[in-house]
Formats: sequence, C-alpha cells, structure tokens
Amino acid sequence: MPKPEKHVFVCIQNRPEGHPKGSCTARGGPALLDEFRRLFEEKGLWGRFQVTSTGCLGPCEEGPNVLVYPDGVMYAKVTAADVTEIIDQHLMEDKPVDRLRISEELWG
Ligand code: FES
Repeated sequence: MPKPEKHVFVCIQNRPEGHPKGSCTARGGPALLDEFRRLFEEKGLWGRFQVTSTGCLGPCEEGPNVLVYPDGVMYAKVTAADVTEIIDQHLMEDKPVDRLRISEELWG
C-alpha cells in the first residue's frame, strides 16, 4: 500500500448517554466518516489519501472532530456539509480550512 499524502482521522468515539463529555458519535461523527468515504469514492481519491475512523482525539466538547496528518490540523464541530471543502481545499490544494480549525487554546 502506498503511503497516503494525507491521512484523515474521523472520531467516532461513543459514550453512554448522559456522560459529561458526550461523544463525537453523538454529535454526528459517523455521518462525517460516511461522507468522506462517499466523496473519496466519487472523486477517485483512494490510494492518494486515506480516511480512518478513530477513538477519542481529546477535545470532545468541540466534536465531531477530524484530524489531518501529516499536517497535524484538527477541525472541530465539523458537519457533513464541510467535508467537500476539507477535501477540495486541504487535501487537494494543501490549504487548511481555517474557519473549521479548533482554537489553539483547546488544541495547540
Ligand atoms: S469523543 Fe471525539 S474527540 Fe473525544
């Protein structure tokens, strides 16, 4: 398998209802993962980029969170509607989507 240019990690950590931290699954993480996979397929990006589900990335209250390596860019409160922008701007053009970046006080 070739090393991907960029690797997207989508948090789908789940926690019991009522847990004080909540979870990215409760906030919509699985729908993001589905959208990344759907668009990777549609745009023929498999092989160049990779997307993987992951457990908790840390800043749960800001979820659902998406982490892109090797850049170390964390996106917060991502919606399925934001996924196209992350792919087209960050993965394809190497320009992180600033409006979705988590604040540096929370992850910096
Ligand atoms: S549950 Fe997703 S960052 Fe913690």
